[in-house]
Amino acid sequence: MHPDWNRIFPDADHRWIMGLRRTDALAEYFADADATRSVRAEREHWLAADPEKYAALLPEAESGLEETVELARELGAVIDADQSPFEQLLSLGRHWELDFVLMHPGADGVFRPMGGVVCFPSSWALRDKLAQPMVFVHEPVPNLNSVLGRQIDTFLTKQLPGEAWRRENWSLARDGNWNHHPSRPRIRLDATISAQDVWIRLEHQLLLKLPRSQCVFFGIRMDVVPLQKVIDDPQAAKRFARILSTIPEAAADYKGFATARSALIKLLDLPTR
Ligand code: HEM
Repeated sequence: MHPDWNRIFPDADHRWIMGLRRTDALAEYFADADATRSVRAEREHWLAADPEKYAALLPEAESGLEETVELARELGAVIDADQSPFEQLLSLGRHWELDFVLMHPGADGVFRPMGGVVCFPSSWALRDKLAQPMVFVHEPVPNLNSVLGRQIDTFLTKQLPGEAWRRENWSLARDGNWNHHPSRPRIRLDATISAQDVWIRLEHQLLLKLPRSQCVFFGIRMDVVPLQKVIDDPQAAKRFARILSTIPEAAADYKGFATARSALIKLLDLPTR
């Protein structure tokens, strides 16, 4: 999947945006993109090593899981119906290259993560977010709730059955590892970075309302791209530099590049241009 940098880095100052667009290309979203199968091998590794850390299923999410298994079967997966719900969840987690969270509305109508498989999180843990409202889930993101909190809840409630939407999210890292669970060791970005030290973590997200259970299937397809790819694309580099230079300090700190901001902008804005 070649990243559409113009969409990922809008030609504007930084702001938190919904950035949602309709899609009907479900088969394409779920299809394997990695011919080497190393992404699935890594998922298998983490799910075998510590299933309770990377997968979770509350009873409220079993109806959503059932519909997700049906969807997977329609897309060609073989999932053994005799397995327990948690085993079926793990099978899905190994079968797909993508992570997913099953969002269910409570009696109050508010959607909460009630299960899923997240092997490649960008510095968060599924277990910490389980059964919590979105306002809690997004609480660590400075100012996100005040700007988008209400819109996000309204979107999840009003989304029509069968409707699918996509959006992208980016973050930066100093290693190309896919699993950034908070329990894993991490090297921080700082002023000493050079281009080959930096990776962009691109999340291709999917929000699909499953018709029977009213569950919102939230897909997160990770793509880890060297910063050099953006440096090599002058228009993308210019837009990214503008976003980096206008992001508020608290947000830069949350995203882990506050002390690397100037160095990043310098890398993107090489004098040779
Ligand atoms: C329609 C909806 C949504 C929008 C517009 C949205 C937007 C965002 C944004 C802008 C960030 C900040 C990421 C960054 O820039 O580094 C974020 C983080 C995050 N979002 Fe969402 N999001 C949406 C739906 C969801 C859903 C359904 C979940 C379900 C679990 C979710 C879970 C998270 C998590 C776990 C984080 C990281 C929070 C942390 O660091 O602890 N989001 N989201």
